[in-house]
Amino acid sequence: MHHLRDILLLLFVFGGLRDVLCAPSQVPLSVADVAEATKPRKLHGRFLHLTDVHPDPHYREGMSEKSACHRKKPKKKPRSGPFGYTYGDCDSPLLLTNYTLDHLEKKWADEVDFVIWTGDSARHDNDRKLPRTLKEIYALNRAMAKRMEEIFTSRGIPVIPSIGNNDVWPHNIMMPGPNDVTSEFSSIWKSFVPFHSYQVFQRGAYYSVEVIPDQLAVISLNTMYLFDSNSAVGGCEAKDPEDPGNLQLDWMEVQLQSFRSRGMQVWISGHVPPSARNFHSECHLRYVELSLRYQDTVLGHLFGHMNVDHFFFLDARTLESDGSMDGGSAHTSGKHKDLYATLLKDFDHLYKTEKDLDYDGIAVVNVAPSVVPSPYLPSFRIISYNITGSRYVPGLLGDSDTGSGDNHQHYLGDFMDRERLCQGSSSFNESWRCRLNSPWHSSPHSPSRTNRLFTPLGYAQYYIPNLTGTEEHPPKWKLEYLTFAPQALHPPAAADEFETQKDSFVYPIPLKRLPKKLRDANMTSTKYAPYSLQDLTIPSWTALARSLAKAGKSSKLRRRFRSYMYMGADEEL
Ligand SMILES: *[C@@H]1O[C@H](CO)[C@@H](O)[C@H](O)[C@H]1NC(C)=O
Ligand SMILES: *[C@@H]1O[C@H](CO)[C@@H](O)[C@H](O)[C@H]1NC(C)=O
Ligand SMILES: *[C@@H]1O[C@H](CO)[C@@H](O)[C@H](O)[C@H]1NC(C)=O
Ligand SMILES: *[C@@H]1O[C@H](CO)[C@@H](O)[C@H](O)[C@H]1NC(C)=O
Ligand SMILES: *[C@@H]1O[C@H](CO)[C@@H](O)[C@H](O)[C@H]1NC(C)=O
Repeated sequence: MHHLRDILLLLFVFGGLRDVLCAPSQVPLSVADVAEATKPRKLHGRFLHLTDVHPDPHYREGMSEKSACHRKKPKKKPRSGPFGYTYGDCDSPLLLTNYTLDHLEKKWADEVDFVIWTGDSARHDNDRKLPRTLKEIYALNRAMAKRMEEIFTSRGIPVIPSIGNNDVWPHNIMMPGPNDVTSEFSSIWKSFVPFHSYQVFQRGAYYSVEVIPDQLAVISLNTMYLFDSNSAVGGCEAKDPEDPGNLQLDWMEVQLQSFRSRGMQVWISGHVPPSARNFHSECHLRYVELSLRYQDTVLGHLFGHMNVDHFFFLDARTLESDGSMDGGSAHTSGKHKDLYATLLKDFDHLYKTEKDLDYDGIAVVNVAPSVVPSPYLPSFRIISYNITGSRYVPGLLGDSDTGSGDNHQHYLGDFMDRERLCQGSSSFNESWRCRLNSPWHSSPHSPSRTNRLFTPLGYAQYYIPNLTGTEEHPPKWKLEYLTFAPQALHPPAAADEFETQKDSFVYPIPLKRLPKKLRDANMTSTKYAPYSLQDLTIPSWTALARSLAKAGKSSKLRRRFRSYMYMGADEEL
């Protein structure tokens, strides 16, 4: 008896007991598995992107920003309000997070097909008097996960969370798995992570979910292993195949290959956006290359972390450069206020290369603003996608592999003396640049480039423009803007014989979730719709970027773009 107990104790000490007790056969089937297995749901052609909620149980009304809104009532205003401290450094009061989740439940739970939730579900402040603890981080994550389950999972709506840099302790640091973090999150997210992903999740906290079985999947990355602030990992160096970032990107490659071979389409989601500024440089290289290599399979890239509404490009030129410069989307500055200038510089770069612009070499990353009103205002996105039309089958149109193979050579071969650099004695030859030789899969007919089944069509962004309010009279969620043209919100005005089209029309945004002005089919106001993008394909985003680059410094277009980024916090140009 004693002997057995010693063994169990040893197993426990070395972290093995959990594995023994939670052997796969004993893990109950999660709701995520059931969602994957049950009969097709009626699709709405929309999903929710929610990010950076940052609930803070220590938040108190009437306190100072300096104390992270925890104490020290200041003599003068501004003081923290019941629903949050706008444009400052405080996290979200529970009143705001509850109100937001209640709002999503009441207004959106019956309107969306799945939920992409890109992390940071704990407070992030640096209050020395009330330091963050792992226990608190897990408790906040557990409370939020439970609520997300009640709202969405219970309705059969898959929820796909990812780990944020503040969901670990100390913040930004996460050791290679399996470890306490991966095992705790596999418990917290039991209803979200499908059983078939369980073992991989234990190792790295990344996984994928077939949100429409056999058709549409979401890959949820653990960007902590790619993030350059995480000093506990090596940063995807080519000489270290066991680096957790490399293992994750190896896994992502296999996932993409497998989804592609099944003719599926994929969203990639995660917390820290894959920019040169945020990722270890070798992780960034691999990420860019994989995204372009599977451009015909990846619908888009959805991230959070920055708390600033923006988009940027993954650019093949990153792979040609010798590392001393970055082709596009450098995000060289960490300061929010410089992000606008950096983006415009990137867009300008794209605009100037218009003549030989090749869509095979571009992917788009969309960064959604946060729920936490720090430093701006609470927001979330409803993204609408095409649920009609025919499925894209890779290679069927004969243009997929051949065309892309050529382009791959174009990007990796022509522009620089790659061979010389890769055989040289410089450290360059150790880079992934010299090891990425597989053909690319891209096609102008794929859903990331042409509007067809699963192509993202547009999004509506909601926000709370004025956080003043009381529990009895809470502030209101409102539409901030749409990427659509106003006409796209309504069935096309058809001749009588085509009237039946109206019955099958899929409203990109339910009319009752629009301001009165936009519910009228004859409304052409662009107050909410400055971009009028036909869809969210790579060519559409590129066109918007070029228009922004081309527009005058104080043009209406630039002012709108900038005001969405900073939400009134920083209006001067
Ligand atoms: C928020 O919701 C949680 C659980 O739903 C509840 O326990 C808590 O008291 C609420 N907090 C506030 C401030 O409303
Ligand atoms: C969806 O794609 C089909 C083509 O496959 C297209 O005819 C249709 O207009 C698209 N739907 C929307 C709402 O754009
Ligand atoms: C890189 O160059 C060094 C020095 O010439 C050489 O020893 C090494 O084998 C090269 N590495 C690769 C991957 O070619
Ligand atoms: C915000 O709302 C409050 C209460 O409704 C109002 O008094 C205040 O003027 C508003 N602030 C702004 C900037 O609109
Ligand atoms: C829109 O305008 C047309 C013609 O101008 C008119 O016949 C129609 O009734 C209007 N529809 C609505 C919903 O106002």
